[in-house]
Amino acid sequence: MTKQVFSTDIFEGKVAFVTGGGTGITGGVARALAGHGAKVAITSRKIENLEQMKSVIEEDGGECHAVSADVRDYEAVERAISESVDAFGKIDIVVNGAAGNFLCFANELSANGFGTVVDIDTKGTFNVCRAAFEQLKANEGQILNISATLHYLGTPMQIHVSAAKAGVDAITRNLAVEWGRYGIRVNGIAPGPIEDTEGMKRLLPPQLKESLTKRIPLKRFGRIKDIEDAALFICSPAASYISGVTLVVDGGQWLKGTSLS
Ligand code: HXC
Repeated sequence: MTKQVFSTDIFEGKVAFVTGGGTGITGGVARALAGHGAKVAITSRKIENLEQMKSVIEEDGGECHAVSADVRDYEAVERAISESVDAFGKIDIVVNGAAGNFLCFANELSANGFGTVVDIDTKGTFNVCRAAFEQLKANEGQILNISATLHYLGTPMQIHVSAAKAGVDAITRNLAVEWGRYGIRVNGIAPGPIEDTEGMKRLLPPQLKESLTKRIPLKRFGRIKDIEDAALFICSPAASYISGVTLVVDGGQWLKGTSLS
């Protein structure tokens, strides 16, 4: 039996705004924050995914507000943030998880394909941080950006995502420097190969799972719960002097080459 690592009330009185919070890794992070006392506003383009996650969170006894927005659209982000503040009174924690991904060789990728992913991941992360700034400043809040390890080395068919996530990591560091004076912490998590996610379904043909597993030092794929636990730690008071860090949660995998190389 697994012991409860984090007290279930560590985020009591806190409000989180989570993009991409309907599904996958960030859906898990939203559920985990709600399961540890936070009120959670989730946003993404697809309201049906959000409604489903809202039901899951509420069935677990948590509080959730679902609001659809495309993170590429600054005014839509502002509206989503303002609606979430109307619902829950404030925002303390921003989690940027909305991301786009597909496999494509650089010489086959259109400028719009490259730009679309950079717009979702990088510009979307900036948009949400920028629009939430006054709330974060007022509440000495924090930002958690979901990144990747693809850009640490060269990853074939991932030039768009690698460039986008390198930009996200730059945002993490720059905002940590600029907004530290307001008591705002800014960190990231770089997940490795996480099973049962849309990203992995798109990136890894099932027949390659076994050979990739052998190359992961911890000899298993990550689970959404691995990222949830890392997020709970980074967002918790135990990490109150940690800022500007992107925590790699990948079983040691990138040290042996990125997942697709
Ligand atoms: C080549 C593609 C393409 C593909 C889209 N495009 N899919 N090019 N191969 N498979 C191109 C289009 O041709 C178009 O360019 C441009 O991208 C925009 O496409 P649209 O469909 O109009 O855009 P939009 O609907 O806004 O978004 C498309 C999308 C998005 C970015 C593909 O639907 C998406 O990514 N959804 C997946 C969400 C997801 O899985 N998120 C988890 C990410 S996981 P042209 O030139 O034709 O106009 C992750 C983790 C990484 O990031 C780390 C893992 C280890």
